[in-house]
Amino acid sequence: MDTRAKRKFRSQEWFDNPNNPGMTALYIERYQNQGYTQGELQSERPVIGIAQTGSDIAPCNKIHVFLMDRIKAGIRDAGGIPMEFPVHPIQETGKRPTAALDRNLSYLGLVEVLHGYPIDGVVLTTGCDKTTPAMLMGAATVDLPAIALNGGPMLDGWWKGERAGSGTIIWESRRLLAEGRIDYDEFMGRVCASAPSLGHCNTMGTASTMNAMAEALGMTLPGNSAIPAPFRERMAMAYETGRRIVGMVHEDLKPSDILTREPREAIVTNSAIGGSTNAPPHLQAIARHAGVELDVTDWQKIGFDVPLLVNMQPAGTYLGESFFRAGGVPAVMGELRRAGRIHEGAMTASGKSMGENLAGWESRDRDVILAYDAPLRINAGFLVLSGNLFDSALMKTSVISEGFRARYLSRPGHEGIFEARAVVFEGPEDYHERINDPALEIDAETILFIRGVGCVGYPGSAEVVNMQPPDAVLMQGINHLPTVGDGRQSGTSESPSILNASPEAVVGGGLALLKTGDRVRLDLEACRLDALVDETEWAERRGAWSPPELRNQTPWQEIYRRHVGQLADGGCLELATAYHKVGRDLPRDNH
Ligand code: FES
Ligand code: MG
Repeated sequence: MDTRAKRKFRSQEWFDNPNNPGMTALYIERYQNQGYTQGELQSERPVIGIAQTGSDIAPCNKIHVFLMDRIKAGIRDAGGIPMEFPVHPIQETGKRPTAALDRNLSYLGLVEVLHGYPIDGVVLTTGCDKTTPAMLMGAATVDLPAIALNGGPMLDGWWKGERAGSGTIIWESRRLLAEGRIDYDEFMGRVCASAPSLGHCNTMGTASTMNAMAEALGMTLPGNSAIPAPFRERMAMAYETGRRIVGMVHEDLKPSDILTREPREAIVTNSAIGGSTNAPPHLQAIARHAGVELDVTDWQKIGFDVPLLVNMQPAGTYLGESFFRAGGVPAVMGELRRAGRIHEGAMTASGKSMGENLAGWESRDRDVILAYDAPLRINAGFLVLSGNLFDSALMKTSVISEGFRARYLSRPGHEGIFEARAVVFEGPEDYHERINDPALEIDAETILFIRGVGCVGYPGSAEVVNMQPPDAVLMQGINHLPTVGDGRQSGTSESPSILNASPEAVVGGGLALLKTGDRVRLDLEACRLDALVDETEWAERRGAWSPPELRNQTPWQEIYRRHVGQLADGGCLELATAYHKVGRDLPRDNH
């Protein structure tokens, strides 16, 4: 007798399948050896996977090891059966050549686990930069009920009475070291002071940004993302998230019910928080795996005119603890909602609409989260540039300092226009070797370019575009030269670089044709960056160009390079974007 119609959960296809009792015994036998009982596994209770991204090798997410008993308690109390499983680690500060290479590998691993095991719903543990998009991309492809739980930022770092923010203090201390104003011991002390506890970066870097994005997309419980890792509220959130996923399975509330439209809330929220330039490629990847329309130009269309509301490093002053006390993401979105910038009807993991989740939320500290009509600065979103060097590249305007604006973008009669001489580096090794070479004649009228550092080139797209000026220029008090590249930069950097240039140089983007000494023009009014090289010569250079030979060090690097797309398209494994709702397509039995 076919009892398929009676079976409520996907996991019952493994554990309670009268059509194939032999296989059912095999599936149950090896799970019961660790203590799950046959009665339990056949009791019409959903099996909830917990995707564990923390480990000794992934310290940004290690808090999840300690949150696990709270998540499991929540799942149990709501009537589910928890099963924790490991995820390929992605540690931003540990993985070479770059953690970005592993986002898609972790994604692939998650898809295989969720598709191939008896799982009805999943808690995605998130935190460090790429862990969050990798988990959301996987959940979007599989489309089983899923909820994200952030590990939370570290406590605020302090050094000699000043806030020491993750990453941001490194970029600043690197400059002070180059200027001879601090020694190496002081450098080390400053940098380590920024990491005082378990948790991820305490600045509004890529980690806090992507977890805010997860919340703005509706994929977490409200208030999840900003709770610092060691706080009791974090443990309570772990418990409530565990409880909630069981409800989501019973309601069959899936990513496809939540990620339904162009992710407007996330883009608007990203501008308001002063979020990372890594958000566009990650959100693009999540959207593509969810089958939702999004274009890189939407970041300017939807997000540019949004004001900066959050006074947090690198665009502002404070760190994660203050952000949490001021109300975190719901308070920011509450301000945006009152200004009419949020779709109130969007469904969320809580089972309620975004508007219902945000009701009553507003800033609790106007120094940290400012009002929409009295912001830290206006027009805080990204500009999307194009020109003969690339089809698209991003510029984060919320970090442009007054000094930089005055020097490069506010010349009388030339508002937003800057012409300069290009100096081109072939990757970070070349940059480090030559940046102080006087023969390059780098001065305040120079734009620094770096290429060969995109998805295919690096491989994985490296965070190296925020190049520090040569020591001699730093000594003149110039902290930032305009920089451009086909890689990315750290979300904790306060550098107003032009980055994520797509297509990248090694696949034939215009950047490949640029030479040191060329004149280039940046026009922020027209959103263009062009090499001022005449068309005949440009065409000659194009004709003479051939793709460089790239050396792979591991099999994954070769697979990745063969299948990865450009940053403007999310840096996805292109073939993977054709797969949707694979969790609904049951795999065959294994024996
Ligand atoms: Fe992991 Fe910043 S390095 S969160
Ligand atoms: Mg980084």
